[in-house]
Amino acid sequence: MTPPVDQWEFHPGHFWLRGKRPEKIVDYDEELQLWNVYGYPESAAILGNPKTFSSDTMRLDPIKLDESIVEGDFSHTDPPKHRKLRGLVDHAFTPGLVAKLESQVHGIVHELLDDIEGKSQFDLVAEFAAPLPLIMISDLLGVPASDRALFRQWMDKMLDGSEKFESPETVLEQEQELEKELELLWEMRDYWHERAAESRKRPREDLISQLVHAEVDGERLNDSQISNIANRLLVNGHLTTAMLIANTVLCMDAFPDQGARVRADRSLVPPLLEESMRYMSPICGVGRATNTDVEVAGQVIPKDQLLIVWTGAANRDERQFENPDMFDAGRSPNAHLGLGRGIHFCVGRQLARMESKAAVEILLDRLPTLRTDPANPPSFLQVVDASGVATLPVVTQ
Ligand code: HEM
Repeated sequence: MTPPVDQWEFHPGHFWLRGKRPEKIVDYDEELQLWNVYGYPESAAILGNPKTFSSDTMRLDPIKLDESIVEGDFSHTDPPKHRKLRGLVDHAFTPGLVAKLESQVHGIVHELLDDIEGKSQFDLVAEFAAPLPLIMISDLLGVPASDRALFRQWMDKMLDGSEKFESPETVLEQEQELEKELELLWEMRDYWHERAAESRKRPREDLISQLVHAEVDGERLNDSQISNIANRLLVNGHLTTAMLIANTVLCMDAFPDQGARVRADRSLVPPLLEESMRYMSPICGVGRATNTDVEVAGQVIPKDQLLIVWTGAANRDERQFENPDMFDAGRSPNAHLGLGRGIHFCVGRQLARMESKAAVEILLDRLPTLRTDPANPPSFLQVVDASGVATLPVVTQ
């Protein structure tokens, strides 16, 4: 069966989503002055080698930004600091602790569906897939429910300005874009500073309180570090999971034989979610910087170069996956790179898997006739390093 991907308006750079192969596994982009890596073994090797391929990509940015913008954000940090900072939060996402959150997640999914019940059509992203992970990550961070709308606004603003690596802009446009991003960042930082100050006065069990009282090498974290870690968890913990849930519903509908398989056998929900992360990876590109001259797929990449590891394209590599453009809900093995690999392997993967499994299972139970709306096609995020639906109109009959 021909996949319906030709009707979907993905980001134009995401050629693999249309079943196309890269011309070269490693390719230098003169205009953007960065290296694109598209192959699976190459991507897996790069992500597994933080000594040569650093996550501190900011050091190569021609615009020199204040260190306080990233300090503490372990996703941009290398060993040994990475381990220490990540250690401050990864205990909160262990399988045991995530399992304890399961009943809470089920409760939220049911509440969201209670609000939806009776509607003959709705946007699955806005009303279901996005609120669930937003509520969960806000609760873990310990922010009041009344601030969730503010978080949602931040995310929307952030997506609005995230077309980086796409087309060369004029210096003026770049500066204007940066100014907008920084404005948002300061707003978020002020917010977290207030939360941190409150937690210092009245400590609680949440992640912000834990960060406020945590120490790295005998020193407490400063406010910028706390703010950058909180933002990292908020951004990564929210949009990606929302995309996974909505992409999965879209794929079940777009490949009806696979949708029917899962409806008939619920044990296929976990492999279905893994296949969704492979086929339409919510995070499809991650940045690295070379620490030395290094050869990748026969191509020498000099020291201090920026690389984009296109995990979304690697997830379609025939050298790793049989029939990579086929959506197979029961695919096994499925060692996709959708959650990364190596020391930066996604911190929140257990939470994301648990939330999306609950969301899809309960959705299938409560809205068994749910289908994408034939009159209103989905729209896709036009963000270069993410692939997923931005809106998914559905009908319930
Ligand atoms: C389907 C959902 C998700 C996807 C597809 C996803 C994907 C990824 C990927 C690809 C990376 C590696 C980035 C790199 O190598 O540079 C990553 C890292 C990370 N993810 Fe996730 N993620 C998801 C859900 C979550 C959730 C729910 C949270 C938090 C609650 C989270 C927090 C993080 C953090 C903090 C990192 C940085 C880890 C590090 O640098 O050591 N993610 N994620």
